[in-house]
Amino acid sequence: MRCDQTPAWKALTTHAAQASGFDLRTAFAQDAERASALSQTAPHVFADLSKNHTDVATEALLIELARQTGLASHRDAMFRGEPINNTEGRAVMHWLLRQPEGSLGGDLAAPLKLVHNTLKPMLAYAEQIRADAQITDVVNIGIGGSDLGPQMAVLALQDFVTPGKRFHFVSNVDGHELAAVLKGLKAQNTLFLIASKTFTTLETMTNARSALAWFQADGCQDVSRHFAALTTNVAAAAQMGITTTFGFWDWVGGRYSLWSAIGLPLAIAVGAQGFRDLLAGAHAMDQHFQTAPLEANLPVRLGLLDVWYRNFLNYTSRSIAPYHSALRRLPAYLQQLEMESNGKRVDRNGHALSYGTSPVLWGEPGTNGQHAYFQMLHQGTDVVPVEFIAVKKPTHNLADHHELLLANAIAQAQALMQGQADEGGHQHFPGNRPSTFLLLDELTPASLGALIALQEHRVFVSGSVWGINSFDQWGVELGKVLAKDIHARMASGDRASLDSSTAALLDRIR
Ligand code: F6P
Repeated sequence: MRCDQTPAWKALTTHAAQASGFDLRTAFAQDAERASALSQTAPHVFADLSKNHTDVATEALLIELARQTGLASHRDAMFRGEPINNTEGRAVMHWLLRQPEGSLGGDLAAPLKLVHNTLKPMLAYAEQIRADAQITDVVNIGIGGSDLGPQMAVLALQDFVTPGKRFHFVSNVDGHELAAVLKGLKAQNTLFLIASKTFTTLETMTNARSALAWFQADGCQDVSRHFAALTTNVAAAAQMGITTTFGFWDWVGGRYSLWSAIGLPLAIAVGAQGFRDLLAGAHAMDQHFQTAPLEANLPVRLGLLDVWYRNFLNYTSRSIAPYHSALRRLPAYLQQLEMESNGKRVDRNGHALSYGTSPVLWGEPGTNGQHAYFQMLHQGTDVVPVEFIAVKKPTHNLADHHELLLANAIAQAQALMQGQADEGGHQHFPGNRPSTFLLLDELTPASLGALIALQEHRVFVSGSVWGINSFDQWGVELGKVLAKDIHARMASGDRASLDSSTAALLDRIR
């Protein structure tokens, strides 16, 4: 049943009206158990949900909503490999990439075998590159899901990265990016990884061709040693002359592909065991998502919280605040995950929705954000739920720094909630501003894997309740088509049937 037609939706609407005066400070004062009642652990992640505009009654109604919209059966359909990506007729099986070898029977036994038969040579290749002292620089050329995941993860796990190798990520068709990277490189010491699920993406193909030309102009010939393609379209890679290829499958969405061959830069960076640990951490979260009761299921609770905020309290964005500088690309990664998955205006059958879907995600690492936009979070006119992500143990020995960092994270969550009285004055903080606090013991391949899988599944949960297809991305196509047309018009000078703004801009850049 569509979420807005369920009895639970109606009950939540009434509940939201009744709870309009909800105040976190009162809620804490009235219930000494609030923090423990609204906190939980999941594999590698502790979550404190208690500073959110919810209580046990809200959560119970949200769980009802999940039941009435068939969340559990939708989740189980994904884990059975059914084609839940209905607009593309595809299964959604990124989770299979982290499933232990031989652990599934039936229809999934064969694809799982394929997964491991692909993973093993990929990890062997990663080890070979790690041992190859001549290769000092690895350049990943890819965009969107073929860039953000590996880039975010290589940065996040920088303390695990093998010495002697530098990693570069080129995504933009803007030649300034590729040119700046190539400037510091020698062809004979460089490995290019051309990462593209489709091997048709304009940006990646343009960068790949230019990299190939640069490589040959530098006097090198051995493309099979210095170029590898990570793709579902091995034939297209071969056409470009790239014969070293690592494949994956159409049932892995681009923004869910870190676990596939797209993760090769990370596997080179942290080694085969590190990559396997990442997969194991994610698999632990998959199991939690599949088996924990809905009430104690962290991705379910987070996804339902997102629905509550978006549809009942009308909070339209979420700020991601990783208090760990190595997680600085996490907000960008999560932006694609959430907004490309759930930025949809029609349901699975193509009918227009009368309720909101994906929030806007944005953020920067703490404490930097505190000195930039936290002003708005504390005293602006909009309420923006903040998601703090902190790590207990640092990997450096500058103990003071880490204590200060964590103190700031906790203090910000407290300040947002607590506020400060100053009748009508500029130093008045209204408080009662919501946040979630996620805490990892350590930032390791395993905990990163669990954190990312948690985020994938929470996006699944809200998308499922909204009744949308979280696994297609038709909204990116129109711009691609129009860019081709505009590009052709640059050369031809043809302005026929263009609006006057587009025509004038074209004239201006000529
Ligand atoms: O244009 C959007 C998109 O298709 C994303 O979904 C994807 O992650 C990105 O482009 C890159 O696509 P590909 O891996 O096929 O080059």
